[in-house]
Amino acid sequence: MALREAAGAPHARILAVGGYRPSRVVPNSEIVDAIDSSDEWIRTRSGITERRWATPEETVQMMAVAASRKALAAAGLEPEQIDCVIVATVSHMLQTPSVAALIADELGTDHPAAFDISAACAGFCHGIAMANDFVRGGSARHVLVIGVERLSDLTNLHDRGTAFIFADGAGAAIVGPSDEPGIAPVVWGSAGEQADLIRQNVDWLTWGNAAEPMEQPYLAMDGNPVFRWASFAMAKIGLEALDRAGVTPEELDCFVPHQANMRIVDALARSMKLPESVTIARDIATMGNTSAASIPLALERLIEEGDAKSGDTALLIAFGAGLVYAAQVVVVP
Ligand code: UT7
Repeated sequence: MALREAAGAPHARILAVGGYRPSRVVPNSEIVDAIDSSDEWIRTRSGITERRWATPEETVQMMAVAASRKALAAAGLEPEQIDCVIVATVSHMLQTPSVAALIADELGTDHPAAFDISAACAGFCHGIAMANDFVRGGSARHVLVIGVERLSDLTNLHDRGTAFIFADGAGAAIVGPSDEPGIAPVVWGSAGEQADLIRQNVDWLTWGNAAEPMEQPYLAMDGNPVFRWASFAMAKIGLEALDRAGVTPEELDCFVPHQANMRIVDALARSMKLPESVTIARDIATMGNTSAASIPLALERLIEEGDAKSGDTALLIAFGAGLVYAAQVVVVP
């Protein structure tokens, strides 16, 4: 016998976004001594002037709930209307249960599907791609996609290659049904042969079982090869995402890349030959690299400051540990 299949909405779009920026502002001056660096070096090499590091109260769950409440209010939705919660994070320190289930409960939702995904800095774009398919495929009607990180917990403050980059924050988006196409096809993939370039330096079990006390595991990055890969290989992926959306660089309104490094943002815009008319997200200057949270936070800022308008097209592109990447054109809520 033939089984029934789910029927979804004709199209999906991002209905709203919301962000949470931790209260503690950390200027470059506060971290330079431990890494024998300078404010000027950090600004020129990364474009970062300050970042936010979470206080003990600003947990992954707390920040995610705050960002989600903002997105729910902006969408005019009640928590019970969410039927799937996807959380992209690498810094929820408990192996199980998923933080998505805890967030769903704290928000007062009505027992939605809830799970975490591990796609590092590209996690939010992976979540948007999945949410788009869930809504159109009939598996869910309103999906809450969260990117949240407390990278300060996994940062070695004496590591010159990472201490000035990584930061904390949360961003959320709600994907729901739409009359018009609002999320174009995703271009995504992995390059696992380069897995060593960004990694946790030692696994928790090895650390916990070490005969001699070891320093807590942290994120290690071979920055320069990642920088070159992101600046060149990712430009091709961005152009492919534009092509699959049927949008030319001239027609694009906003470019919201993962906020990894201001020089990567500029290099990508240059390689893709984006015209001057395209608004470029530059949230990294005051937020640092918040991994999975960086795109929703940057998009929220563009909307709040009036630099992105509802109905604009925005190219999202994210890349990170794995190495993995994902890019898609979306319509700004
Ligand atoms: O979010 C996930 C994906 N991550 C990324 O996309 C990050 C990608 N990588 C980067 O953003 C950059 O590689 C960094 C910002 C991390 C580093 O910039 P870079 O231009 O690649 O610098 P580098 O590592 O090639 O080092 C250049 C010089 C070296 O000195 P010499 O050999 O030229 O004399 C380093 O020793 O800068 C020195 N250096 C520093 N100096 C002051 C390295 N780190 C520092 C530091 N302060 N913190």
